[in-house]
Amino acid sequence: MINKSKFLEFAIKIAKQAGSIQNKYFGNITDVSSKSTSIDLVTEADKQSELFIIEAIKEKFPNHSILSEESGLFENKDEYIWVVDPLDGTTNFTHNLPIFAVSIALVKNSKAVSAVVYNPAADKCFYAEIDKGAYLNSKKIKCTSSKTLSKSLIATGFPYLHDEKYDRSFEIFKNIYDKTRGVRRLGCASLDLCFVAMGRFDGYYEFNLKPWDICAGSLIASESNAEVTDWDGKTTPSDGSRILATNGFIHNEMIDILSNQKFKIFFN
Ligand code: IPD
Ligand code: CA
Ligand code: CA
Repeated sequence: MINKSKFLEFAIKIAKQAGSIQNKYFGNITDVSSKSTSIDLVTEADKQSELFIIEAIKEKFPNHSILSEESGLFENKDEYIWVVDPLDGTTNFTHNLPIFAVSIALVKNSKAVSAVVYNPAADKCFYAEIDKGAYLNSKKIKCTSSKTLSKSLIATGFPYLHDEKYDRSFEIFKNIYDKTRGVRRLGCASLDLCFVAMGRFDGYYEFNLKPWDICAGSLIASESNAEVTDWDGKTTPSDGSRILATNGFIHNEMIDILSNQKFKIFFN
């Protein structure tokens, strides 16, 4: 059983409360607007969930900074920053698919130290703390031990912006699809990472994400013994521009594809 810090206890509590806000709207969505592109959606549930989380953090830790998807950066004096996706998987949420989550990470001096990803529709709470392992509803989780891509199931995602990288990403998709048991696109980056952590997927890769999409899920995955890096094996860019998370065994096979010269555009 993990000995949770006061930060993790708090993060789990507010993630579950934000999850109940989302559950109230789920299945009953009337108000959807778009942001960066016509398919980048935001609902009242995203906004209410975020409002609740930000207020709760400000009340409990008034000197901490907060980076959240809908409100941006709120800078403060302490070395702690909360990185929040108040509703990850908004497109699923809007279409009544129960694959969405609240994602909250606490970062200290640029390193994630506590993380929670809560999937309210299934009441699944993933959490981790640095050097303490990863958990799902109090049970320790670990990633798979498949040794080759040919025995692996991979997850990925695609950005809202349909530019040249987006076009080229289907070539990567085919390269990986050809070598694996399949590639899934669930539409919720934080849960994709948790599903690597709990052994549903052997690996996950994506590009053009944001810090709030990957911050909590990356810590949960690495604490489950997964390897989480950039597409070339270097440190994961914290801005979300590229991420690769695998069980470790298939990491080099994935890197061989993702860092191939023909895909160098993804490193621009
Ligand atoms: C999105 C999801 C999706 C990923 C997108 C993200 P949102 O987050 O995580 O899986 O492919 O690129 O932006 O918009 O639902 O919070
Ligand atoms: Ca997101
Ligand atoms: Ca979101």
